[in-house]
Amino acid sequence: MPDTPQARDTSHFWMPFTANRQFKSNPRMLVSASGMYYYTDDGRQILDGTAGLWCVNAGHCHPKITEAIRRQAGELDYAPAFQMGHPQAFEAASALASIAPAGLNRVFFCNDGSEAVDTALKIALAYHRVRGDGLRHRLIGRERAYHGVGFGGISVGGIAGNRKHFGSALAAVDHLRHPLDMARNAFTRGLPQQGAELADELDTRLLSLHDPSTVAAVIVEPIQGSTGVILPPVGYLQKLRTICDNYGILLIFDEVITGFGRLGTAFGADYFGVVPDMITCAKGLTNAAVPMGAVLVRQDIHDAFMDAAPENAIEFFHGYTYTAHPLAAAAAIAAIDVYTSEGLFTQAATMAPLFEEAAHSLKGLPYVKDIRNLGLVCGIELESIPGKPTTRAFDIFLKCFWEKNILIRTTGDIIALSPPLIINRAQIEQLFEGLGDVLRNI
Ligand SMILES: Cc1ncc(COP(=O)(O)O)c(C=O)c1O
Repeated sequence: MPDTPQARDTSHFWMPFTANRQFKSNPRMLVSASGMYYYTDDGRQILDGTAGLWCVNAGHCHPKITEAIRRQAGELDYAPAFQMGHPQAFEAASALASIAPAGLNRVFFCNDGSEAVDTALKIALAYHRVRGDGLRHRLIGRERAYHGVGFGGISVGGIAGNRKHFGSALAAVDHLRHPLDMARNAFTRGLPQQGAELADELDTRLLSLHDPSTVAAVIVEPIQGSTGVILPPVGYLQKLRTICDNYGILLIFDEVITGFGRLGTAFGADYFGVVPDMITCAKGLTNAAVPMGAVLVRQDIHDAFMDAAPENAIEFFHGYTYTAHPLAAAAAIAAIDVYTSEGLFTQAATMAPLFEEAAHSLKGLPYVKDIRNLGLVCGIELESIPGKPTTRAFDIFLKCFWEKNILIRTTGDIIALSPPLIINRAQIEQLFEGLGDVLRNI
C-alpha cells in the first residue's frame, strides 16, 4: 500500500501525551527535517519554534552528528556496558564533563530524561546510605515540576494529571510551592524580581516539618519548562543552595530542558551561578538524534560509592541495557563538538535580546495575560475560555501549524517557544509575526 496520508494506518501506535482520537482524525505528520525546518507529508515547510521538544538545539539533521551516527552504526552497533566497555562511552563522558560546571565530573549514562531523574534520585538515596546516613530517605520536589514519567519523577514532580492515575508512587516525598506569581511579576523581562522568599519555605516549612536529618535531596528545574516557563525569582536558587548546604542535603538540578545552551550557557547552573550536587540532562545531549540521558555527579559523591565497596564489588546496583549505547555516545560526542566548535551557546546568548523583544511585542494582544522569557525560551500565558481550559491555546497551536507553517508548543493555556539555538533574526520575526497574527484573529 502506498504511504500516502489517505492510505496510512494510524490505529496501532498508541501516542504519548496526545489526544489520540483527535490527532488521528486529522494527522499532523512530519516526514523530514533540516536546520530550522520540518517538512510535512503535504509538502509544507514548517519553522520549528520548539526545537522538536526542547531538544534539537543545533538544528535538525546536523551533518556532523548524522555522519557520526552513520559511521558508528557500521562499526560497533552495540556493546554491553555491564562489566564491559567501548571507547565512545568514556569519550562521551569526558566530553560532557568538559562542558559541565566545575566539580561535576562523573557521568552516569541512561536513555532519557525520566531515567536521568530516577537515576539521580537513586544516587542521592544510596549516597547517604553508603556513608552511614540512611535516615535520609526523603525527597523534596516542587509543585508544577516536570521530572519525566518514571515513578521517581512523577513523585517529585508536581503535575496532578501525571500522578493521579498511578497510585501513591514514592512515599517519602514533599513539595515546595512553585514560584509563579503573576500578580507581582507579570510581563517581567528576564528573571522575576519578586519571590525569592519562597525558597525560605524549604527551611521554615518543609525541613521544620520533616527534620533536615531525614531529607536526602531537593530536586528542581532551574526553569520549570513543561508547565509553562516558570522562572526562578532573582536569588531563589542561591537560597536553595545555601539551605541545602546548611543541612547536608543534596541539591539536584533537572536540566533536561535548560542544558546545552537554552539560556546561552552550557547549563542553567552556569547562567545562575549556582552549582548543584548533581545535574540531570538528556534531550540536547545528542541533539536528540539518538535517545540518551545522563546524570552529572560531583566527584566526591561518586567516590563515596567507590570507598564504601570492596575493590571487586559492584558499587552501585543500577544501569540499563542501553547505558552509553554506541550510537548515542557517538551522537553525544559529535553534538558537544558542534556546540563548542560552532559557538552555539554564545550564539543563543547573542540572539536572546532579540527573542525577548519579539516575545514581548505580543503584549496587549487578545487574551495575553503574561509573557515570560529567558535565553531562547519564552512562555505566553493566555486567559482560558471559561469552562474549557487548554482549548484556546490548542486552537492557536493548530492554526499556527496549518495556516502559518510554524510549530509552537502549548501546555494548558500557555504557549511555550524554545527554538533551535541557530535561529536567525528573520526566523524570529517569522515565528512571532505568525503567532501574533493568529492571536489577533482568535
Ligand atoms: C525537566 C525535565 N525533566 C525530565 C524530563 C523527561 O525527559 P524524557 O521525556 O526524555 O524522559 C523532561 C521532559 O521534557 C523535562 O523537561
